[in-house]
Amino acid sequence: MRLRSRAMCPTLLSLLSLGFYVSLRNWAAVGEYEKLSLSAWPSPVVPLGQTVTLQCHSHSPLERFRLFKRDGKRRLPELQGDHFNNFTLGPVTGEHAGSYTCSEAYWSAPSDPLQIVVSGVFKKPSISAHPGPLVQQGDNVTLRCHSLVMFDKFILHHENSTGHFQRHGEMLTGGYAPADFSIGPMTLVSAGTYRCYGSLRRSPYEWSAPSDPMDIMITGLSKKPSLSAQGGSMVRSGENVTLVCSSESAFDQFHLLREGVNLGRHLAGGQSPRRALQAEFPLGPGTPAHSGVYRCYGSFTRSPYSWSNSSDPLFLSVTGSTTSTCPSTMDPHTTEEAQLSQAHSSTWYIVLGLVTAFTSTSIILAALVCHWCSTQNHVAIMEGEPMEARIVNGEDSIVTISPFGEML
Ligand SMILES: *[C@@H]1O[C@H](CO)[C@@H](O)[C@H](O)[C@H]1NC(C)=O
Ligand SMILES: *[C@@H]1O[C@H](CO)[C@@H](O)[C@H](O)[C@H]1NC(C)=O
Ligand SMILES: *[C@@H]1O[C@H](CO)[C@@H](O)[C@H](O)[C@H]1NC(C)=O
Ligand SMILES: *[C@@H]1O[C@H](CO)[C@@H](O)[C@H](O)[C@H]1NC(C)=O
Ligand SMILES: *[C@@H]1O[C@H](CO)[C@@H](O)[C@H](O)[C@H]1NC(C)=O
Repeated sequence: MRLRSRAMCPTLLSLLSLGFYVSLRNWAAVGEYEKLSLSAWPSPVVPLGQTVTLQCHSHSPLERFRLFKRDGKRRLPELQGDHFNNFTLGPVTGEHAGSYTCSEAYWSAPSDPLQIVVSGVFKKPSISAHPGPLVQQGDNVTLRCHSLVMFDKFILHHENSTGHFQRHGEMLTGGYAPADFSIGPMTLVSAGTYRCYGSLRRSPYEWSAPSDPMDIMITGLSKKPSLSAQGGSMVRSGENVTLVCSSESAFDQFHLLREGVNLGRHLAGGQSPRRALQAEFPLGPGTPAHSGVYRCYGSFTRSPYSWSNSSDPLFLSVTGSTTSTCPSTMDPHTTEEAQLSQAHSSTWYIVLGLVTAFTSTSIILAALVCHWCSTQNHVAIMEGEPMEARIVNGEDSIVTISPFGEML
């Protein structure tokens, strides 16, 4: 805190020129405190390698400020001085993490400290929701943060629909124990996106990377939509599958889930003959992996964490012979946003599996062909075939010519 007084430093000349008005003003300001404040833009939690701008706020915008990093109560040597109110730090490293203050002059009282956290110093922890991410208003929800890194502390952050980002809580842990944060009973204010971070006692302002986001949605505040499959819920393998979620409420987006896994959201598009709003979810050519229980929800863009009641479940069954067991995710051009990570990762596993299967099959085939070729060569040589008859076609395959001139 700082006494709002200009009269402490100026020269006699300036005092004289400012005259009576200033002295009156200073007299009036005696005992009135102005607090400097320090803020960070875009956020006090800065990912490793990015920059952050610290701004010192005061009522006198043309004043020059000084920035200090603090170590407990001790003020470390001045970091950057004689700036206007902006200081840019970075690209940040762990060294930038800590507590900062700014002051207007050497003798003025500093601002309240601002903690600058550098995130991404350790591997991200995992986060899970119990009983799940879709809850009714008033339900108790527990978020569990867990890591294979031995953190001393987990920090839970919450971001709501207005983009407001704040620390929700922190919890000391021991060993590899998870931290359970109770965030219920749920209301529209506590719904939102949660992430957790881990940190160590010896450097509390260096955090791990954020966990994957966990969206906690409140459901049941509006009427359920209805879900149907174009052409029926019994589908032959290979037939195009399109699910349609529709509602007479004016939802502007719909969400589709299979077995509780969010497949993504679509904006409400055309209207059905009964003038209900609807969204189509094309799942592509059906495979048995598309079989399962589907549900959809409606919501409004202005309140993204409040979903309608769940539609009645739709049991989709894809039958028939399969040429491919690759479960396609939804069309990426029409599927918006994240939450497809699960579907994506399973697709990746399948692609990986197919590649592995293909590679090993090729290796076995190649081995068989080689073995067979060498046998043939052997036989040819045994039969007195001249070596010149073996044509090496430059690359990798060996063509042998039988004594009768046929290509084998
Ligand atoms: C300080 O930074 C903010 C945000 O980057 C910017 O809007 C503002 O104009 C800057 N002020 C000065 C004095 O440079
Ligand atoms: C939530 O937890 C509180 C305190 O543990 C309990 O009183 C309340 O009944 C719980 N609410 C529900 C819906 O389970
Ligand atoms: C978001 O959080 C801020 C701070 O807690 C609160 O003021 C604001 O009302 C919240 N917005 C919504 C839509 O819940
Ligand atoms: C949502 O579903 C519950 C249980 O089925 C029901 O009691 C409630 O009235 C429904 N809410 C609305 C808005 O339709
Ligand atoms: C499936 O849909 C795609 C795109 O909508 C279309 O190109 C394709 O011909 C359809 N296939 C069948 C079997 O209907």
